[in-house]
Amino acid sequence: MTPRWFPLLLIFGGALAGCDQQREEAKVAGRWYTAGQVSDGARLFAEHCAACHGARAEGKAADWRQTLPDGSYPPPPLNGSAHAWHHTLSVLRRSVARGGIPLGGKMPPFGDQLSPAQIDAVIAYFQSQWDDKIYSAWEQRGGVDVSR
Ligand code: HEC
Repeated sequence: MTPRWFPLLLIFGGALAGCDQQREEAKVAGRWYTAGQVSDGARLFAEHCAACHGARAEGKAADWRQTLPDGSYPPPPLNGSAHAWHHTLSVLRRSVARGGIPLGGKMPPFGDQLSPAQIDAVIAYFQSQWDDKIYSAWEQRGGVDVSR
């Protein structure tokens, strides 16, 4: 026999699933990503990127424009103060997946360690550090060049 609280379970279950979906789907105002992606990305960024790019993507080198003795560049900030906003979303995805070594740089590739969804999440995280002015300049340059 079905217990009497069964309908209640359905209602609660449904409400919880609804909340979760909302968390997943609501875009941060004016941005391509959701708050859920930013929080997943924050965790992944701390684990995989912060050692080189700084905990809040602020960079670590005194001057990221100054080449190192071997001719390569230090890891730049990704918080909107350097060049990252000159690259569209598909270029950013590719740089994270392939890294910089094929281009004579030093950044390791992450395509084998992070799924495409995880790469989007780390991008969402560092873009969450961009102020609205940088973000809209990026958008106007055609930053969101993939259908989402
Ligand atoms: C071992 C240090 C290191 C780690 C770890 C690292 N990077 Fe980098 N990253 C660099 C360096 C150095 C560059 C500059 C280009 C080059 O030398 O390859 C760079 C460049 C970039 C760029 C291009 C920025 C621009 O202005 O053109 C992006 C985007 C980027 N990294 C994102 C990430 C993300 C996201 C992660 C974590 C998943 C990460 N990096 C982890 C060292 C690192």
